[in-house]
Amino acid sequence: MVLKGKHLLNSTDFSVDEIFSLICLAEKIASNPEKYSEKCRGKIMASLFYEPSTRTRLSFDAAMKRLGGAVIGFSDPVVSSHSKGETIEDTVRTVECYSDIVVVRHPEPFRPHKLSRYILIPLINAGDGPNQHPTQTLTDLFTIYHYKKRLSGLKIGLCGDLKYGRTVHSLIKAMDRYDNNSFVCISLDNLKLPEEISKEISSEIIESSELEISMHDLDILYMTRIQKERFETIEEYENSKGCYILTRDKLDFAKEDTIIMHPLPRVDEIHENVDEDKRAVYFNQAKAGMYIRMALIMMLLGISD
Ligand code: CP
Repeated sequence: MVLKGKHLLNSTDFSVDEIFSLICLAEKIASNPEKYSEKCRGKIMASLFYEPSTRTRLSFDAAMKRLGGAVIGFSDPVVSSHSKGETIEDTVRTVECYSDIVVVRHPEPFRPHKLSRYILIPLINAGDGPNQHPTQTLTDLFTIYHYKKRLSGLKIGLCGDLKYGRTVHSLIKAMDRYDNNSFVCISLDNLKLPEEISKEISSEIIESSELEISMHDLDILYMTRIQKERFETIEEYENSKGCYILTRDKLDFAKEDTIIMHPLPRVDEIHENVDEDKRAVYFNQAKAGMYIRMALIMMLLGISD
């Protein structure tokens, strides 16, 4: 099982065994971070964000620094030579001269995939428009495994923007590879999971437009934001926003051991009064994202435990 030198572009690029190895390493790091604090001494990660981010960029940044490595890059391409007309291909080829691993977020689907052909160092897709977000999926799988002690035999509710939501697209494909999972896709008609994705899924998918009545037998409720930036018109966004809002009283419809996940950021889809409920795990999920990214950086750089 060798991940050294590989790119990570899609949530199914790594085998389930490779993902399990990453989860095991992330668990070890989380339980004894000090042991790993010099593992990437002398290594440099380039972080190129062509789209806004809080968690993905900062958790990668923190992950590399907690491993003893350094980070270069930008959070806004306006401060790079992109604003002088440089192509992103030339930027990535240049950055390869200075770094050992590169993380790219871009608003255009498949842009990281195309860029990966220009370089030999590992390239990690940190989100490509509405397409994929594979490191969020690693975060989600690590979180699910932590709370449920398994990745199979789970009923997962996916709620919100299933059309443009890259975290949902990546997660459903990844969870489909484990036995006996099923999905309840809860969305408005205009934000349904695209058919090109649902037809690839072999697990059972139930479609629903009702959050409350879909909650009673879920093991996981994965809430997502209605993403203003992805809509073609502001009118369509205005008609869709606020369609699903999880409040504390609605949790009465859920099982005692249902976990409430969200990739974040949230706007209004989870009321703050849910945060106090023990089933709300989204801030622990954000923390898990740092540990799984530490494991990912180590494995792609071929650094042993
Ligand atoms: N979950 C996630 O991708 O968050 P950011 O957009 O803040 O990175």
